Amino acid sequence: MIMRKLFSALMAACVGLIGAMGFSACSQETGEVPEEWGDILIVYFSATGNTETIAGYIAEATGGKIFELVPVDPYTSEDLNWSDSDSRVSREHNDESLRNVELVSATPENWESYDTVFIGYPIWWGIAAWPVNNFITENDFTGKTVVPFCTSSSSGLGESGRLLANMAGEGNWLTGQRFRSSAGADTVTDWLQELGVIG
Ligand SMILES: Cc1cc2nc3c(=O)[nH]c(=O)nc-3n(C[C@H](O)[C@H](O)[C@H](O)COP(=O)(O)O)c2cc1C
Repeated sequence: MIMRKLFSALMAACVGLIGAMGFSACSQETGEVPEEWGDILIVYFSATGNTETIAGYIAEATGGKIFELVPVDPYTSEDLNWSDSDSRVSREHNDESLRNVELVSATPENWESYDTVFIGYPIWWGIAAWPVNNFITENDFTGKTVVPFCTSSSSGLGESGRLLANMAGEGNWLTGQRFRSSAGADTVTDWLQELGVIG
């Protein structure tokens, strides 16, 4: 009888220990954001949804808040037809003065409270799609870590991040990352792990 009681107590202790080990391993894998990154905001513009998907993966992995940059005059599929030299994007591309795209809102709520800002955009003719420009120029990036990310069919990040950093004038701008248009969640979380944003 005593032996049986001892055996059950031992088994219960083992199960408890294994449970605790399992739990702690799991909580590490969910990728807690190290304190130095602080509060995270993910800002993006996306004309056809690819960059939006990546922004969603970043938000899911980091627990950051999302803010979408929405043009007052949204881009239709005709507007985006870059092979038509008279389409809206072609005209804006050819004449820089037409790239001042008014946004429904250029400043996220509680902007001052964020320490790390991811900024996402599609590549248009090798640079960041210009609807992000008014977000960059209308906000103060002092003291913030800024991480550019983009999607494209084939072009790399190129100078897109550096050009935005110059436009902002302030902030600690990291190199950033380009994703192919249909990149999956795993690719994005691998990058966030390399960056050290998630464990
Ligand atoms: C006007 C325009 C210009 C583009 N220029 C490039 C380019 O220079 N290089 C490239 O690889 N892809 C280019 N693309 C493809 C987009 O970068 C790609 O489809 C991106 O994933 C779209 O993101 P979105 O769905 O978030 O708008 C261009 C697309 C458009 C509409």
